[in-house]
Amino acid sequence: PRSLRAHAEQRGLLVGCAVVPDRLTGEPPYGSVVAEQANLLVAENAMKWGALRPAPGKFDFRGADEILAFAAGHKQKVRGHNLCWHESIPKWFDGAVTRDNARQFLVQHIQTVAGRYAGKLHSWDVVNEAIDTKSDRPDALRKSPWLELIGPDYIELAFRTARQADPAALLTYNDYGIENDSADNREKRGQVLQLVRRMKDRGVPIDAVGVQSHLTVTDPAPGAGLQEFVRELRRMGLQVFVTELDINERKLEGSIAERDAAIAKLYKDYVTMMVAEPNVSAVLTWGITDRYTWLDGPKYARIDGKPQRCLPFDSDYQPSPAFFAYRDAL
Ligand code: XIL
Repeated sequence: PRSLRAHAEQRGLLVGCAVVPDRLTGEPPYGSVVAEQANLLVAENAMKWGALRPAPGKFDFRGADEILAFAAGHKQKVRGHNLCWHESIPKWFDGAVTRDNARQFLVQHIQTVAGRYAGKLHSWDVVNEAIDTKSDRPDALRKSPWLELIGPDYIELAFRTARQADPAALLTYNDYGIENDSADNREKRGQVLQLVRRMKDRGVPIDAVGVQSHLTVTDPAPGAGLQEFVRELRRMGLQVFVTELDINERKLEGSIAERDAAIAKLYKDYVTMMVAEPNVSAVLTWGITDRYTWLDGPKYARIDGKPQRCLPFDSDYQPSPAFFAYRDAL
């Protein structure tokens, strides 16, 4: 079997990528690669508040619906990303959302969005990136607008509302910076575990943790610490999804062949390690082609200004060494 999808299906795994709706139908090579390689899709941006909420009382589901239609046509599942985050907050938010109505805004958003797709989604990232190791709070919660306006129980409110709105979707807490064994990542893993434990103790419905996996090839490689984290979640009865895998090579020097080899090796080692854990059931990359990656944006662009080669397909839709390494890990 030649595709990521075929390899994953043989092993009973879900594999896929973040997608942009217009390209699925508007750019034939993009649509074919996504159809061929993925059995699970997630919207890179189309299901975030910023895309769905043009005005306080308005919803725009066009992009999200296009993704679901494409997925249905290609027998693919879809993850929802996300219902509650400190980013992608619409411009009208400030001023319109206050301490008095924030709970209502959050609940109504989740009821409307999760309700619309109820029964059709594999999972929802209910709360995204709520932990901040630099937070001075004992619970390590990030000072997001939701925390400031609602308080720490916004997380519980979001998960309970999501479960009611779509009892079939696996409810996920999704975060980054928890992959390697640096002091910061270790600390954050502990904080995520504590958050999840508090939720379980209170009977808050949560089914999975998303490990974003925005890796950096020049950082220490993920290893035993992450493995132990995944196992601890398994003991708590939770699944783990690799939700946003890509490999930043911003400081990596050498020829393209050398760079590609380093990226490919990390794809292989990382995916091999993760899918060896029985509670890891899905792996998604954050995009499918180097032609479109957020890593070329201002925050993460390579220091020499050249394009990143961070995803399974290059910018001409040819499989990179990373593709073969990744595929063979599935
Ligand atoms: C990123 C998108 O890739 C960008 O296009 C957008 O401008 C900002 O968001 N963690 C997440 C994703 O959970 O939603 C982010 O996606 C990347 C980091």
